This record gives sequence, structure tokens and C-alpha cells, in this order.
Amino acid sequence: MDLPGPVVAAVRGARRILVLTGAGMSAESGVPTFRDAQSGLWENFDPSQLATPDAWADDPPFVWAWYAWRLHLVRDVAPNAGHRALAELATHRDVTIVTQNVDDLHERAGSEVAAHLHGSLTELRCADCHEPYDGEPTLSPEPVKRLDPETCAACGGDVRPGVVWFGEMLPEAAVATTEAAIEALEPGDVCLVVGTSGIVFPAAGYPAMALAEGATVIEVNPVDTDITDMCHHAIRGTAANVLPALVSAVA
Ligand SMILES: NC(=O)c1ccc[n+]([C@@H]2O[C@H](COP(=O)([O-])OP(=O)(O)OC[C@H]3O[C@@H](n4cnc5c(N)ncnc54)[C@H](O)[C@@H]3O)[C@@H](O)[C@H]2O)c1
Ligand SMILES: [Zn+2]
Repeated sequence: MDLPGPVVAAVRGARRILVLTGAGMSAESGVPTFRDAQSGLWENFDPSQLATPDAWADDPPFVWAWYAWRLHLVRDVAPNAGHRALAELATHRDVTIVTQNVDDLHERAGSEVAAHLHGSLTELRCADCHEPYDGEPTLSPEPVKRLDPETCAACGGDVRPGVVWFGEMLPEAAVATTEAAIEALEPGDVCLVVGTSGIVFPAAGYPAMALAEGATVIEVNPVDTDITDMCHHAIRGTAANVLPALVSAVA
């Protein structure tokens, strides 16, 4: 794909590139975004109701079954050309990746992720005593509606996914790392915003903070979002199409 000249020039001229990624980054790997229709067993459930401390308190096996299925799904898929392009971009520029994704596809493509703002699916921990769980959880190869969570060896509590549920605090270290990366941006640097709808805060506020530091903000998304208006450039395309083109422009 051909990118607009000013976008190519901005990326070429940048010393630092801060990349903010959301669920759309992994869509072409086959990990559905939250706003894509829920399929199969969960089609009548809104993720914003499943991914909450209340849902977990009400019915741990129901919530765990959904996460166990997502975990299985993520393990089964591979990084896409967009993930690989960002790993390559880091060989040409100073790249910091901050993601809202709970999958590990950036890492598997060879990138270092500075911050997982919403935690990681793979980092399981006890819901009661918070002890990390390092056993191998039993996952179902087919979706099931209920699955008993693993049991904490330390206290016998239920083991939960290491993700941030709606209404929970973001990991402090991830937020601090992200804010420091934004503050390090200088005029001429670039903030790339890939595959996020820009409605889940505080992540949705980061592009505006990058703008305030003088960075050139570039959105990569097939459709308009809540942040499109404030971006310098909006590239209408998918992560797997646009990011390789961006990298070849600077390589
Ligand atoms: N893979 C994952 O880890 C995963 C998947 C689903 C949801 N989530 C969680 O859901 C929350 C929702 O926020 P969000 O903004 O990340 O996701 P979102 O579902 O709100 O928005 C996804 C965005 O990606 C765009 N998009 C879809 N396909 C794309 C593609 N191929 N290339 C580029 N963009 C594409 C959509 O237009 C949309 O704007 C986050 O908190 C995140 O933790 C994570
Ligand atoms: Zn415990």
C-alpha cells in the first residue's frame, strides 16, 4: 500500500516512536476484538459484563470458562504481519510499545512490550491471596460454558486471569512506564495509534498527551474513531497492511 508522503516523512524523521496498540492489532491473527460480535456460547453476553469483579464474584466457573477459551485461542494463533513489522521497526528507530492487549503476540513477534496496560491473559494469579499461579491450567479444546478455575496452592483460593477487569485499577508500573515514554517524546517524534477504538480510559487519553508533547500522532485503523479528529494523520487500513508499508518506508 502507498502511504501519504507526510506520513512517510514523519516516521523517517522521528527519533522516538511510541506505539499504542489495541484489540485491532491482533484481529488479523484471529483474536476477536471486544466489539466484534461475541460468537457461540457467549453470543448473548457483553464482555463488559463478563470482564468484571462482580461477574467473577457471582460465578467464577462461568467467567473462567470464557477466559480459558480466549487463552486457548490466543495460544493457537500467530503474530500477524503488523506485529512483525513493529518488531522490525525497532531495529531502525527507538520504539516503545504500549498495548491494551492481554495477548502475547507482540512478544512472540520479537518485540519488547514496555507496558501491558490491561494485564496479560497468561499471567494467572490467586484471586484471594494474589500469589502468582505457575501451574499449567486445564484448557478445553472446545468452548464450554462453565469450567472450574484452578486452585491456589498457597491458600486454596480460585485462580483468576491476570487481566484488568472493568472497574479495576491499572497496574501502577505499566501506567508509570507509559507516562514516562510519553513525556520523553519531543517535537518531531511520532505516536502511532493502532487498532484501538479510543473509548477505554485512561488509554484513550494517551494520544492527546503525546500530541501535547509535540509528537506527530498517526492513527492506523480501518474506520474513524473517537480520536481521529485529534490525529495529524489517519491511515484507513488494517495493521497487517499498513505497518509493513510504514516500515519499508524507513528501512
Ligand atoms: N487481543 C486482545 O488482547 C484483546 C482482544 C479484545 C479485547 N481486548 C481488550 O478490550 C478492550 C477494548 O479496547 P480496544 O480499543 O483495545 O479494542 P476495541 O475492541 O474497542 O476496538 C478495536 C479497534 O480496532 C479496530 N480494528 C479492527 N480490526 C482492525 C485491524 N485489522 N487493524 C487495525 N485496526 C482494527 C476497530 O475499528 C476498533 O477501532 C481493551 O481493554 C483490551 O484489553 C483485548
Ligand atoms: Zn491464594
